[in-house]
Amino acid sequence: MKTILITGGAGFIGSHVVRLMVNKYPDYQIINLDKLTYAGNLANLKDIEDKPNYQFVKGDIVDSNFITKLFEEYQFDGVIHLAAESHVDRSISNPTEFVFTNVIGTVNLLNAARHIWTDNTEGKLFYHISTDEVYGSLGKEGIFTETTAYDPHSPYSASKASSDHFVRAYHDTFGLPALISNCSNNYGAFQFPEKLIPLFINNIKHNKPLPVYGKGENIRDWLWVEDHARAIDAIFHEGKAGETYNIGGHNEWTNIDLIKLMCSIMDRKLKRETGTSEKLITFVKDRAGHDLRYAIDSSKLQHELGWKPSLQFKEGLEKTIDWYLENKEWLKGVTSGDYQKYYNEMYKDR
Ligand code: NAD
Ligand code: DAU
Repeated sequence: MKTILITGGAGFIGSHVVRLMVNKYPDYQIINLDKLTYAGNLANLKDIEDKPNYQFVKGDIVDSNFITKLFEEYQFDGVIHLAAESHVDRSISNPTEFVFTNVIGTVNLLNAARHIWTDNTEGKLFYHISTDEVYGSLGKEGIFTETTAYDPHSPYSASKASSDHFVRAYHDTFGLPALISNCSNNYGAFQFPEKLIPLFINNIKHNKPLPVYGKGENIRDWLWVEDHARAIDAIFHEGKAGETYNIGGHNEWTNIDLIKLMCSIMDRKLKRETGTSEKLITFVKDRAGHDLRYAIDSSKLQHELGWKPSLQFKEGLEKTIDWYLENKEWLKGVTSGDYQKYYNEMYKDR
């Protein structure tokens, strides 16, 4: 019996990781710690909430006293740390929140793990989930490997880079068994509609303008979220402490090509005349410091741990669009309340 802490388990990727771990490992006790910010939603976990090996704890990783007590109480064997402020646009509006959660929150967890694992690190692991954005921006050529130098540009990626450095420092200085993975853009069910794909699905559905930043020429490397969760499972169980693993789909799309593909799929699914949704495309002011291109080389993970993406992108995108169209209540739930206020604020000057 192992007790595993998953932070940020009520968020997009975290909920897929919690579901996978709870279902696949009935002999693990999975504790999901989440503050339930605007991005955290227990409705993401309805199907597993009554499982005997699952427990939810509401709490803030920035609260060091609370975190210390939690670790003393549960004596975790492993930590999979996903809790973060995750949206680049919000980090431009409010950078400080990102320092608190992403940097201080991570250091609080590292301190607590170090404290309870002082005498014996055998079988223990602190697994920090990071992003490809820490590597900065690529030109037309090149690909991020695990040895690419860090060069973050947004307050979000700067805060994630900082937390990665702390994780490595605790491994190197204190011998904390820790590792990191850096993943590319995820897509799939339960993603909060502030991120490109779910935001645009929701806008197309409601015939609202599609705010494309700049000329839509930026490139992202998209991975199905359930493939990310499978990679996290593989790395948690077979990865080596002190190592870094890149995770990505070898699946680069310019935003504008992706958006046009989404428009054509949505026209078909909503039985609209071909070309209807594309008319919603509106080019708006670019994101400040907008990284041009991300591309991830995940060959280390593929060769060493045998992981590879399971789903082709077009199939995954169809599945994702179907999910958002079918799960009307979920979408309504997350787009009511403060969402409209956020949307008006974020897009008012564009
Ligand atoms: P998300 O915003 O959907 O979820 C974040 C979760 O963390 C939410 O449930 C939120 O309530 C919780 N949280 C926030 N602040 C907290 C705090 N102070 N204490 C406790 N809980 C808190 O994020 P996501 O997209 O699922 O990303 C999860 C992790 O994966 C992040 O660390 C992110 O940097 C990383 N990542 C995301 C992507 C992506 O494409 N979404 C890609 C690579 C890496
Ligand atoms: O690369 C991994 C990262 O991917 C994660 O670490 C982040 O948590 C996650 O949010 C994501 O960051 P991006 O900034 O790449 O994702 P986002 O969905 O916000 O934007 C994708 C692209 O689409 C980006 O080039 C900006 C553009 N965009 C986004 C929005 C929200 C638009 O053109 N219009 C929009 O309204």
